[in-house]
Amino acid sequence: MANRLQELLSRRPLIAPSMLKCDFGNLHREFALLEQADFPVLHLDVMDGHFVPNLSYGPMVIERMRELTSLPFDAHLMISDPAKYLDDYLAAGCDSITFHIEAVPEPTDLLGKIREKNCLAGLAINPGTSVDAIEPFISQCDLILVMSVEPGFGGQKFMPIALDKLFRIKELLRNDQLLSIDGGVAIPTIGKCAAAGADTFVCGSSIFNEPDYSEAHKGLLAAIETVNR
Ligand code: DX5
Ligand code: ZN
Repeated sequence: MANRLQELLSRRPLIAPSMLKCDFGNLHREFALLEQADFPVLHLDVMDGHFVPNLSYGPMVIERMRELTSLPFDAHLMISDPAKYLDDYLAAGCDSITFHIEAVPEPTDLLGKIREKNCLAGLAINPGTSVDAIEPFISQCDLILVMSVEPGFGGQKFMPIALDKLFRIKELLRNDQLLSIDGGVAIPTIGKCAAAGADTFVCGSSIFNEPDYSEAHKGLLAAIETVNR
């Protein structure tokens, strides 16, 4: 785990394509294009139709995806009972597993179990949830994921309330923890997220709606750079 985390930390800022928006009819091609575009990590959105009002895919699909690429998998579990299915996601080959504080209000055990298995552990927070809910557990995480839309669907509008959360959480983080932002992250919004402290940017529409993934990657990184200058 240490090496995997170190590698991701050293490559910050990280643009993580959200595979919710990819062409599922041609995963071979999608992975090849994403590798050519030099993305450092892929974001896998898992939805159960219960925690969120939408269904996506689960461990069987991730296991098959794992055979098609060696890029790290950052799984985002939008499911009501992540503990019940943890072993399946570990066996499927996820490199990091993030679950929601709204699903597991006492997350210490589950975070520990994920890390025990040499996997990075993350905690996600919805737009309507206060940072207070995650604060006691932040030191136990490798990654904090701030939602900037209500989880469930790609292509939604970025909610600026997420920026306040990023500022606050950034102050509580060590340098070896990732701060991720997810939902509506695109050229007009990514710079503000970086300025607020995010170093990992989950992007669905802003990559998969573009004709050239490599150009999309460069454009997003350039938009971050303009803020840092
Ligand atoms: C929403 C997901 C996101 C989403 C991002 O529930 O967690 O990862 O797919 O898509 P865009 O970038 O289109 O908002
Ligand atoms: Zn996500």
